[in-house]
Amino acid sequence: MEQRKLGTQGLEVSALGLGCMGMSDFYGTAEERDEREAIATIDRAAELGVTMLDTADMYGPFTNEQLIGKALTGRRDQYVVATKFGFERQADGSQIINGRPEHVHRACDASLQRLDIDVIDLYYQHRLDRSVPIEETVGAMAELVEAGKVRFLGLSEAGPATMRRAHAVHAISAVQSEYSLFSRDVEESVLPAMRELGIGFVAYSPLGRGILTGAVTSGTLRASDTRRRRFPRFAEGNLDANVAIASRIGDIAAEKGVTAAQLALAWLLHRGPDIVPIPGTKRRMRLEENAAAADIALEPADIAGLEAVVSPESVRGDRHWDMASIDR
Ligand SMILES: NC(=O)c1ccc[n+]([C@@H]2O[C@H](COP(=O)([O-])OP(=O)(O)OC[C@H]3O[C@@H](n4cnc5c(N)ncnc54)[C@H](OP(=O)(O)O)[C@@H]3O)[C@@H](O)[C@H]2O)c1
Repeated sequence: MEQRKLGTQGLEVSALGLGCMGMSDFYGTAEERDEREAIATIDRAAELGVTMLDTADMYGPFTNEQLIGKALTGRRDQYVVATKFGFERQADGSQIINGRPEHVHRACDASLQRLDIDVIDLYYQHRLDRSVPIEETVGAMAELVEAGKVRFLGLSEAGPATMRRAHAVHAISAVQSEYSLFSRDVEESVLPAMRELGIGFVAYSPLGRGILTGAVTSGTLRASDTRRRRFPRFAEGNLDANVAIASRIGDIAAEKGVTAAQLALAWLLHRGPDIVPIPGTKRRMRLEENAAAADIALEPADIAGLEAVVSPESVRGDRHWDMASIDR
């Protein structure tokens, strides 16, 4: 698998990473999750050269990091481990954002323990805490680097102004935000700012949380998949229209002899050498399918054809139910 550089500090990662969130949380129900298959998927990822694993303390909460900790036993050196702090989930299911320096230190120590590793390769603030100056949060993150607990720093869903202020305190290697054929808002100001600053980009939900693959439709989306249903694009009245757009991607993919998921990932990989998508899956079969996207060459005419049928403006519903937490 091709390696890509994130930022200018020396972080090198596989062109495609593996999003691990769905192995423990968010999509489907507990009954649909299988720890053995999840660990086998992480093992297989290393064999395929997909070596960046993406998690966060809030996935589970906590159980996703524990799962990765198990999977890493005896093979820590084969992976780049990225995790995040900042969301604290409350007993009633709500979440608060905490970027206070003392929380940064506490959260990092807890993540290291759950992951059962000595150092986190890439440590992100999950969301901006608007009640704490970013300089204070990143100042604490920089102390983690100094202490040898973290190698590189990242921000998730940060806007250009935050990026600049943070980067002035300590070099930021990666910004992680949603980016896909369905969600291109980062192209307006986030990508230009990070490129100016020499920061790399990690594209989360690159398959539109499953819609872009053609596998999630109103026929397959279960009533029990309540967290996915919370995202506006999966809401009744929006889902069918979005699935219809995705099916056009499927038609173009079929003409090229690839799958819709592969085409969506190849498109992102062609957006620049500083873009690293992290498709999420909890199954080896899909990981293998997704990893093969790294070998697909798209000509400018392919890209133009694809963009002509899929415009983000035609997608129905906000990309997140909590747009207020997104900093722009
Ligand atoms: N920073 C943030 O705020 C943030 C937010 C969301 C996500 N993330 C990170 O980004 C990662 C990826 O995003 P995501 O998981 O939300 O969305 P995604 O990668 O766009 O889509 C994942 C969904 O697509 C399905 N899928 C994957 N490959 C497929 C294929 N080839 N064919 C059919 N279905 C396929 C998965 O199902 P199966 O698992 O059943 O295969 C899962 O339901 C997450 O795992 C997480 O680490 C970060």
